[in-house]
Amino acid sequence: MGTELAQLVTAVRGVVGDRASWQDTAELVAEQLERHLPSPAVLTAEQRAGDPQRYRSHVLHIEPDGSFSVVALVWRPDQVTPIHDHVTWCVFGVIRGVEYEELFALDEDRGCLVEAGTGAAAAGTVNGFAPPGDIHRVRNAGDETAISIHIYGTDVSRIGSSVRRCYDLPVLAA
Ligand SMILES: [Fe+2]
Repeated sequence: MGTELAQLVTAVRGVVGDRASWQDTAELVAEQLERHLPSPAVLTAEQRAGDPQRYRSHVLHIEPDGSFSVVALVWRPDQVTPIHDHVTWCVFGVIRGVEYEELFALDEDRGCLVEAGTGAAAAGTVNGFAPPGDIHRVRNAGDETAISIHIYGTDVSRIGSSVRRCYDLPVLAA
């Protein structure tokens, strides 16, 4: 493991060990990611180039006790995730390009999603959130490849990914 990644993992390990609530943990981890945001050099040139078919994820670290995972996501322009939420807290930092995030609220009575906000995150931006209320979709809205580091509060290899559910529902304007 390179030095940049090792320093980030050590810092995250220190705050995850506090066993705070998901919300507090997300904030503590976000502080550490802000302080130790790696450069795109944590990926190989081939990984940094992205994939013309879809956005790609690369697992950089899984904590041996399963308490967190560090993953890099690489998006070519216009590549987008499904609308989804997560099984646990998630912190992400953009290290190249611009990611555009849309948030949604689930309206169970009407069986639809309602737009709940948008935000653009340029390189250097770090954000964290915790369920519930974390239904979102992320796309690369810029014209260069975007790369972000995501830290999830689980072992992503054990459960396949940190996605709880994908939502294929109509979306209404707020
Ligand atoms: Fe997500």
